[in-house]
Amino acid sequence: EQPIYILAIESSCDDTAAAVLQNGKMLSNIVARQDVHEQYGGVVPELASRAHQQNIVPVIDVALKKAGVEKSQLSAIAFTQGPGLMGSLLVGSSFAKSLAIALDVPLIAVNHMQAHILAHFIDEEGFDKPEFPFLAMTISGGHTQIVKVNNFFDMEVIGETTDDAVGEAFDKSAKILGLPYPGGPLVDKYAKEGNPKAFAFTKPKVPGLNFSFSGLKTQILYFVQKNVSENPDFIRDNMNDICASIQYTIINILIEKLKLAVKETGIKQVAIGGGVSANSGIRNTLKEAEKKHGWKTFIPKFEYTTDNAAMIGIVGYQKYLQQMFNDAAVASKARIEL
Ligand code: KG4
Ligand code: ZN
Repeated sequence: EQPIYILAIESSCDDTAAAVLQNGKMLSNIVARQDVHEQYGGVVPELASRAHQQNIVPVIDVALKKAGVEKSQLSAIAFTQGPGLMGSLLVGSSFAKSLAIALDVPLIAVNHMQAHILAHFIDEEGFDKPEFPFLAMTISGGHTQIVKVNNFFDMEVIGETTDDAVGEAFDKSAKILGLPYPGGPLVDKYAKEGNPKAFAFTKPKVPGLNFSFSGLKTQILYFVQKNVSENPDFIRDNMNDICASIQYTIINILIEKLKLAVKETGIKQVAIGGGVSANSGIRNTLKEAEKKHGWKTFIPKFEYTTDNAAMIGIVGYQKYLQQMFNDAAVASKARIEL
């Protein structure tokens, strides 16, 4: 039988990414990151769209070359439909539509947040795939949700943030500490050398499975301002301990809600996905929970945590098997439900 080759394109935010999958196995996974946003302390949508325009052709060329796959061999083109920045999404979707028409192959629209969850189904040596139903916690710069995943395209959000996403909590805390955007990975780096119990922050009281992070951000701001007024070098002198304490608090908030979700649903298979699942603290804590609470945890391979096209490709592959195709009229959407 002919192998199924999916070319996947992801351009929802500030990374231009392309991947090629053969029967659900990743052959190439290319990301061009955009440094232009760093100086602005956040993603500037107009600059992101322009950079996608410049990057998309070379990124796709490299992905195909690295996979050793010719355009004529492609079975389908998958692309991110949303959620994301409209101008960024349009670059990826326009390219995907044009290529699908030119090659006369099916076009497949993919929900970015479903992809963060289904990344666990990429065929990868040493990585088990979850069985349905399982719980997934999506933790990224734009989302914080606990999802009950009944099947590939049957998902229920059972908890979510009422304000900031957890990635924003990391990035905004980092900004308060004078670190460049996105600060999440830097907080992680400094936290490794620090004492997580050096400073105590209170956890928000949010009922049920929902989250809130905006109060924590304000608490950290006041804490830093107060200490800096007494010692101008407070941040520099305590960077590792401050980062470790912030990270410890955030992880506790996440784990506590996960425990409650397991208790309420009786499901002990727990997966994480999204950029913040790159965090070493959350990865370690989940591994411990596996032993402590008898969970089976699914932690994505590092390259499938932050935005990437391989995760779009695995959803594309599943949709291909189920013949879930789109016509070229399919519209990009800044917001879509799971
Ligand atoms: O999934 P993603 O790449 O983009 C969105 O869809 O939002 O997630 C990006 C977020 C950023 O907030 C970034 O700071 C955070 O993931 N992040 C981390 C780490 N790596 C990325 N946060 C904490 N620790 C990390 N190691
Ligand atoms: Zn994402």
